[in-house]
Amino acid sequence: MNAQQTRQTFLDFFEKKSHHIVSSAPMVIKDDPTLMFTNAGMNQFKDIFLGNSPVKFPRIANTQKCLRVSGKHNDLEEVGHDTYHHTMFEMLGNWSFGDYFKKDAINWAWELLTDVYKIDKDRLYVTIFGGDEGDNLQPDMEAHDLWKAHVPENRILRGNKKDNFWEMGDSGPCGPCSEIHVDIRNNQERAEVDGATLVNTGDPKVIEIWNLVFMEFNRLANGSLQPLPAKHVDTGMGFERLCMVLQQKQSNYDTDIFQPIIGKIADISGIRYGAADKTDIAMRVIADHVRAIAFAIADG
Ligand code: ALA
Repeated sequence: MNAQQTRQTFLDFFEKKSHHIVSSAPMVIKDDPTLMFTNAGMNQFKDIFLGNSPVKFPRIANTQKCLRVSGKHNDLEEVGHDTYHHTMFEMLGNWSFGDYFKKDAINWAWELLTDVYKIDKDRLYVTIFGGDEGDNLQPDMEAHDLWKAHVPENRILRGNKKDNFWEMGDSGPCGPCSEIHVDIRNNQERAEVDGATLVNTGDPKVIEIWNLVFMEFNRLANGSLQPLPAKHVDTGMGFERLCMVLQQKQSNYDTDIFQPIIGKIADISGIRYGAADKTDIAMRVIADHVRAIAFAIADG
């Protein structure tokens, strides 16, 4: 499946589940003093989560251009040095505004990944929020029990607040989250080391692809959590990573999203991609940044 088909398949899947498809918001934010750039698909819906804007469509899906170069979500230092972080990336998302909650979010994510995209179930791991004393929050056993319908218990891992409690920024909508990770190592590597031990350790072949956030709270400026007027779902799947998995590549830069750009850089520079680590990193950085800058300019 090429990138175009992968994106369309996501939107079609959620349209069939009664989601209204909307466009990506601009990457440069004009009307939120807490945020300079769109860092997640949910930004444009912040006021709906907070109860400040009316719900027009209770279910929405889209693909959002995100820029993570500053603030709470900053991937800048990883870009190019690894093969799966970007300054700009597309986040595939489905939202429920006070409509469905954990059960449908989890079941549909699993259905899409395994029945539609046909990702091998044995290569998937999920994480759930393990609770946090400081915030007085219990482990998310509801998500745990819902995952048990799909995934053996030893593939359901508990994560801490850093990995499994998603917050937009220092303040704003937030909630426990459940992530799906995929293991793209070869069979020998998988036989030698249990993939569960590599989740959230920075291994480039065992990576998060989808985050399902269960929005329940608003983090106030004083750090306390206030329950939101309704419960919502906010999900974000890394489009470039999904394409890597479906195209059976080991690097986002080897997909049809980045290969034309890398090819052009090779033409102009006269350096072959794959010739040396140092030039490979530089070519990935340029490919990533050129794309980010082109969209940032276009978005004002
Ligand atoms: N808002 C969630 C994220 O950005 C989905 O990971």
